[in-house]
Amino acid sequence: MSSKLKIALLMGGDSGEYEVSIASASVVRKFVDRKRFILYPVLIRDREWYYKPDDSLTLPIDKNDFSLLLDGKKIVFDCAFIAIHGTPGEDGKLQGYLEMAGVPYTTCDLTTSAITFNKYFCNDLAIQYKMNVAKTLMLRPHDMWDSSELADSVGLPCFVKPNKAGSSVGVTKVYKIEGFEPAIKSAFAEGDEVLVQQYIKGREMACGVLRTNGKIRVLPVTEIISKKDFFDYEAKYTSGMADEITPAHITPDEESECNRMTAELYQKFNCKGVVRFDYFLSQGKWWFLEVNTVPGFSEGSIVPKQALAAGIGLKEFFGMLLDEAMRK
Ligand SMILES: Nc1ncnc2c1ncn2[C@@H]1O[C@H](COP(=O)(O)OP(=O)(O)O)[C@@H](O)[C@H]1O
Ligand SMILES: [Mg+2]
Repeated sequence: MSSKLKIALLMGGDSGEYEVSIASASVVRKFVDRKRFILYPVLIRDREWYYKPDDSLTLPIDKNDFSLLLDGKKIVFDCAFIAIHGTPGEDGKLQGYLEMAGVPYTTCDLTTSAITFNKYFCNDLAIQYKMNVAKTLMLRPHDMWDSSELADSVGLPCFVKPNKAGSSVGVTKVYKIEGFEPAIKSAFAEGDEVLVQQYIKGREMACGVLRTNGKIRVLPVTEIISKKDFFDYEAKYTSGMADEITPAHITPDEESECNRMTAELYQKFNCKGVVRFDYFLSQGKWWFLEVNTVPGFSEGSIVPKQALAAGIGLKEFFGMLLDEAMRK
């Protein structure tokens, strides 16, 4: 009998971040410590949940108890590594399911995932936690809106984006009154809630943070300098379209403020696993933008680079996440 821990690596999902998830999962597969863990890649798309180690084998997952029948033997997993960005991996759905199935997992719990995935609710909490947050209006499908009123309320330029999405899918920077209509339409294509948000002018920063051995550990902060107008999908995923500087060139005071704030937010939002807080630094003040509870893990992604800058190799890093998830 192998004493290795059996890990289900969940990937895919039902959002525009499907491909991003596949890229994240392939890095987890590449680096995870094979001496300690056996990885079972599980592709999830809608109702179809399959163990799919490669193109030659596809076996169904038994959703009754999240198990797998492999070579006549029933595999019950010790832990699930969630590498699904967006729904259902980042918004609480899988967390609720895995909780009920009694399988530990690497991310925040159902409540934290659901609240933080909802940018509007998350902003309200961040305001309570004394963060500077951009003024934000919420639009639902039957709401009446008027471009001039939107512009008067949040100013121009402003940002229009889906309330619950990621990777900048459906995000538009609106410069002119006429820009609202197409921007709102494209944000509604991603979901049933749309935000119209004040533009924060400042330096964009991202800071990963995790709990390991029960202690919060803040990773070095990264400054993102996009070659596009903002950090859009193309800038995020095309090499050379954004400079990501780790550690960011900020003053020691700015750095210690970022560390303090990030550790405090991690605790207040009751986060688990590794999450990435995104901010703007504007005239010495930090503004909260959002939190990603399943940040990208591909080699070009920010969090793996921050781990490396902190002296944590990726084998060790993924091991830390799994150990913490299974810690009793
Ligand atoms: N209020 C804002 N002010 C300035 N830039 C913004 C604002 N909202 C979004 N952006 C830009 O758009 C990008 C994507 O927006 P974000 O809210 O992080 O959505 P996503 O979840 O898709 O990453 C950000 O990384 C940033 O470059
Ligand atoms: Mg973002």
